[in-house]
Amino acid sequence: MSVHTQSARLTTTQIKKMKAAGEKISMLTSYDYTLARLVDEAGIDMILVGDSAANVVCGYSTTLPITVDQMIFLAQGVVRAAAHALVIVDMPFGSYQVSEEDGIRQAIRILKESGADAVKIEGGASVAHMISRLVAAGVPVMGHLGLTPQSVHQFGGYGLRAKDEAEAQQLRQDALALQEAGCFSVVFEKIPAQLAESVTKELQIPTIGIGAGAGTDGQVLVLHDMLGLNTGFKPKFLRHFANMADEVKGAVADYISAVRDASFPNETEQY
Ligand code: KIV
Repeated sequence: MSVHTQSARLTTTQIKKMKAAGEKISMLTSYDYTLARLVDEAGIDMILVGDSAANVVCGYSTTLPITVDQMIFLAQGVVRAAAHALVIVDMPFGSYQVSEEDGIRQAIRILKESGADAVKIEGGASVAHMISRLVAAGVPVMGHLGLTPQSVHQFGGYGLRAKDEAEAQQLRQDALALQEAGCFSVVFEKIPAQLAESVTKELQIPTIGIGAGAGTDGQVLVLHDMLGLNTGFKPKFLRHFANMADEVKGAVADYISAVRDASFPNETEQY
């Protein structure tokens, strides 16, 4: 069956209208059908198939190793689950850094083969020309500024970005370049709250923050982090909305004892 079913998902135009109407925008990551279905049914506006899958799904220490093929595979499951949310797929490291032609080809492949609605690309003015070509070709693009994990080796870590005036000014210019290039929205990751709020006011397109304070037009978190599945990661900006690690371990421990003491399956749980 084609990945392109008739969809009633939110559109990038509707997401842009939410900013104009002063409505906050919610976004979470998802990487598989089952959890994406729950996230979608709960009423999220946008689902990001993030390259953070490299960390939370595959266990790598950076996002660099994940490939376009792997992102497409994960996105296909999410797209099958999403009836309402706009689905965005991260362009992974290496898929757009070699040449604009390569980036355009890979972005089109991601939309064609996954059925997703948009791609997300890390970077500012340096990727703006490629983004304008993608938008002209009919590919909606979300930008990503501030902490851009694909550049971890260049930055030397995952610390706060745009702390000094020069970096803040650069971020402002990059955000305007992304808007000019036609991005429908931009993620601000781990930058000072005051800066995020002031650039948000300057832009017409919605900003989605992670570790960027309450002044952005929307928020995004990694699903596994906010569900408390990943207890080893607790930066200041992260709130655990559940404690799923304990829930999962408790359920598995109960199952193990029930198998061991032969109380599972019981008479009603057999044929
Ligand atoms: O890959 C990802 O999950 C992201 C979000 C943190 C914005 O890029």
